[in-house]
Amino acid sequence: MFNDPLKAICDDPLERKWAWITLVLAVVMAALLGIYAVAGNFNPPSNVETIDSSRLHLTEEFAEDNLGVKTEPDGSLRVTLVAARYGFYPEHIEVPADTPVTFRMASADVLHGVHVPYTNLATMIVPGYVSEVHTSFPKPGEYSLFCNEYCGLGHDHMWSRLTVVPKTAGGE
Ligand code: CUA
Repeated sequence: MFNDPLKAICDDPLERKWAWITLVLAVVMAALLGIYAVAGNFNPPSNVETIDSSRLHLTEEFAEDNLGVKTEPDGSLRVTLVAARYGFYPEHIEVPADTPVTFRMASADVLHGVHVPYTNLATMIVPGYVSEVHTSFPKPGEYSLFCNEYCGLGHDHMWSRLTVVPKTAGGE
């Protein structure tokens, strides 16, 4: 007969039954998250690169004039973004669909996050570090970049726009 290990901490069979249901649910939910992450190719950002957040404007890459979308020699795109209270700069970016895009993002002040619903772009932007994300957008359309880390009173209004244009029509 099944020897219930929960007996050691609980005498009531009904309580043990509910404890087991809770445990099984937790395991199922953790497994679903794992499957979802693998199936959707969600990865944690892998590079560790530091930067002085108070001096972004003095760096070459994150100076105001150098932000935005650039085409690399191999045809892929690089998007340089600054997150600062309360917005992402530049406030509107446009990229072609189905094209590899590398996002390079840095915070000018506090912890921010970036999340683009319906895509796999979501990461924290930690002051002092460059957040790098590689992705591509299969579906043309209008998307919003939202901040998803509470960063102050204007957090709810911290967002900007991403336009994904059909590959043939645009893309420089
Ligand atoms: Cu930036 Cu919340």
